[in-house]
Amino acid sequence: MKKVGILGLGKYIPEKILTNADLEKMVDTSDEWITTRTGIKERHIAAQNEATSDLAAKAAKEALKAASLKAAELDLIIVATVTPDMPFPSTATIVQAKLGAKNAFCFDISAACAGYIYGITIAQQFIARGTCKNALVIGAETLSRITDWQDRNTCVLFGDGAGAAVLGESKGQGILSAYLGSDGTKTALLHMPGGGSLNPATAQTVKDRLHYIKMEGSELFKIAVTSMADAALMALKSAGLKCADVNWIIPHQANLRIINAVAKRLGFVNAQVYLNIEKYGNMSSACVAIALCEAAEQGKIKKGDIVLLDAFGGGLVWGALIIKW
Ligand code: UT7
Repeated sequence: MKKVGILGLGKYIPEKILTNADLEKMVDTSDEWITTRTGIKERHIAAQNEATSDLAAKAAKEALKAASLKAAELDLIIVATVTPDMPFPSTATIVQAKLGAKNAFCFDISAACAGYIYGITIAQQFIARGTCKNALVIGAETLSRITDWQDRNTCVLFGDGAGAAVLGESKGQGILSAYLGSDGTKTALLHMPGGGSLNPATAQTVKDRLHYIKMEGSELFKIAVTSMADAALMALKSAGLKCADVNWIIPHQANLRIINAVAKRLGFVNAQVYLNIEKYGNMSSACVAIALCEAAEQGKIKKGDIVLLDAFGGGLVWGALIIKW
């Protein structure tokens, strides 16, 4: 089995910013409520002519540049998203065309906020076994398109963005372990009921607002904390490491209070937690992807550091990855 590592990272954040003050004019909320309950101050919103594949392709170009690879050198493209350009074809094939990555095979995965971690874990298998040499994994979302801007319980939480990683064979450092989990008995806690085969789009589904995110926030909160903590421990165990060995935690950024509770539960003593929730809010699969890219770009992660990626989302799904930098 080959050792697999990250060869390059990239990100793209849409220009338009929606602040808490803007939201105060749209629904019955306040900057104070949003900040204290979530840690979010603002989020970015894709332009009308920007689809998820546009965000994804921009992040991918940056990652390819950082890896000093040409698009034609990619063997595999995985896009993790819950906001594909359309139900089919896959957003990954649309991104392939936008990049000119003519030698890649491409598919999407639906693993919500854990999608980037699921995607990297899948790509790692192909590279480790020698089926692929270079793989591109993208977490990209335009959650603003499925956000109910009349629902204060959810509309203050989400944003748009994309992050990408090029993976390939590495010497010495790289992915040490991964842990993935799912629980399909709690799908109703976070889902979008309309637009699929169960509730295809009709005038009634639109009237019933079924094409928007529905979320039971406080119920999810508790499960998020335990699932992220458990996933981290399982991944650390299979890497033969302890919490004290971790230098950086790159968590899913759904809620600052969730992140703090996970860190407290695990009693991280040496680890620093990378946070960007204040600027972007919850961008589902793009959160960990963008946070990892930023932490690396800012020179926070040093060679030899142990980095923990940790996420939880609708499905329910969760996952953790341990990378030696
Ligand atoms: O992405 C991965 C999956 N997602 C998550 O893991 C999200 C997990 N959940 C959360 O982050 C939090 O539960 C939320 C931020 C969604 C909500 O925070 P909370 O502390 O759990 O609040 P709550 O839902 O218990 O609501 C408390 C109160 C309610 O009022 P009453 O019933 O106590 O009078 C809500 O109606 O806050 C009210 N509320 C708001 N007030 C002002 C809900 N949303 C808002 C709002 N502005 N935007």
